[in-house]
Amino acid sequence: MTPSVSRVFLLLLLFSLLTSSLLYFNLSGPTLSLLKHQQHVPKRNISILLWHWPFGRSFRLRGDKCLSKYNISGCLLSDNTSTLPAADVVVFHHQELSGDHSLLPLHRDRPASQHWVWMSMEPPINNVNLSQLNGLFNWTMSYRRDADISVPYGQTLLGGDGHVFTPAPNRSCLVSWVVSRYHPKQARSAVYQSLKKYVPIQVYGRWNKRPLSERKLLPTISKCLFYLSFENSEATDYISEKLWRNAFQAGVVPVVLGPRKATYEALAPPGSFIHVSDFRSTAGLAAYLKHVAADMKEYEKFFQWHQTHRIKTYTHWIERLCQICVQYPSLKPNKVYEHLEDWVHS
Ligand SMILES: *[C@@H]1O[C@H](CO)[C@@H](O)[C@H](O)[C@H]1NC(C)=O
Ligand SMILES: *[C@@H]1O[C@H](CO)[C@@H](O)[C@H](O)[C@H]1NC(C)=O
Ligand SMILES: *[C@@H]1O[C@H](CO)[C@@H](O)[C@H](O)[C@H]1NC(C)=O
Ligand SMILES: *[C@@H]1O[C@H](CO)[C@@H](O)[C@H](O)[C@H]1NC(C)=O
Ligand SMILES: *[C@@H]1O[C@H](CO)[C@@H](O)[C@H](O)[C@H]1NC(C)=O
Ligand SMILES: *[C@@H]1O[C@H](CO)[C@@H](O)[C@H](O)[C@H]1NC(C)=O
Ligand SMILES: *[C@@H]1O[C@H](CO)[C@@H](O)[C@H](O)[C@H]1NC(C)=O
Repeated sequence: MTPSVSRVFLLLLLFSLLTSSLLYFNLSGPTLSLLKHQQHVPKRNISILLWHWPFGRSFRLRGDKCLSKYNISGCLLSDNTSTLPAADVVVFHHQELSGDHSLLPLHRDRPASQHWVWMSMEPPINNVNLSQLNGLFNWTMSYRRDADISVPYGQTLLGGDGHVFTPAPNRSCLVSWVVSRYHPKQARSAVYQSLKKYVPIQVYGRWNKRPLSERKLLPTISKCLFYLSFENSEATDYISEKLWRNAFQAGVVPVVLGPRKATYEALAPPGSFIHVSDFRSTAGLAAYLKHVAADMKEYEKFFQWHQTHRIKTYTHWIERLCQICVQYPSLKPNKVYEHLEDWVHS
């Protein structure tokens, strides 16, 4: 090649590299997670050992649960701690470890290729006693996008059902909120106390002594136009079932308080929510809610995303564990969390 030809060639190469990387980075959030699913080509069985069940509630793992329930093949789950030496991945739920580190099998041989996973679906404020867990875990598993194994409470997928979703017009109330653990010092409590001066809010849950059964939850929420999807803690990527299930599955418009608006924009369906931070005052927020409530056309705009997107929720621990196998091929093999606490609070 002459120098000028090779220069042109180099430029072309650079250009194509640049555009392909641009394309790659454009696939942010939901689209990227979609790709992760498609990558999964199981070559051998991956064995996942759950060391203890989260919050003491266990489920049967007999049979190939990942295949039969979620169509994920080559993923064998176990909660039999005697199988430790044979496990590819051992998963530890944080809550139980925080009170008793002796639960960890530190005295047992740990195969060099075995990966230990620190798992928590709770925001940082609920993950205490972390410093004693430094240098033990290879991977993290949480709702965070930057966790090694990212298991969000819900996900936005491309492709709607092609139908225009028309919200039921027969609502008997404006706003509802379900809260079981109310703490006056939480940000959400201050917003609630102030907002209720301007608009009536139907409050349910243990705090208000109006608990809702699983069966009653969504039908009750769907009686109102809006739902307060207020997280108990404002933390990186922490968007819980309060949005995905309580609001979206009930077919109501969520008013959100949690991570900053950009996070919701990246993760939730486009135009699907009202973020508290968009208003200088709760009076402004209340006025906006009344304005939208008075104009069904405005209200329906919040449901346009159904034409182009759909949501998927992840609620069961078994499904989350099966996700390890889906993401396994793309996980960094050699990794240690020397400062787990720093990561959790980052
Ligand atoms: C990248 O994303 C932007 C904004 O979401 C969009 O306008 C643009 O068309 C996308 N580009 C490609 C190549 O997908
Ligand atoms: C994977 O596990 C299944 C179910 O236990 C078993 O039938 C199959 O033979 C295993 N496959 C490999 C490659 O070990
Ligand atoms: C199950 O997954 C396989 C590929 O892994 C796919 O070909 C098949 O269509 C899926 N079945 C269902 C019912 O989704
Ligand atoms: C647990 O695993 C051990 C070792 O593979 C096996 O001997 C034992 O029968 C298993 N226990 C149960 C309850 O399956
Ligand atoms: C944290 O660890 C200490 C001692 O290791 C223990 O006494 C305490 O109960 C733990 N805290 C929680 C919330 O589990
Ligand atoms: C609203 O209408 C739907 C369908 O007609 C019905 O299933 C639902 O119970 C009604 N809700 C209220 C609050 O009346
Ligand atoms: C996993 O973490 C342990 C404990 O820090 C470490 O000794 C081991 O080398 C790590 N394994 C891999 C495959 O990185």
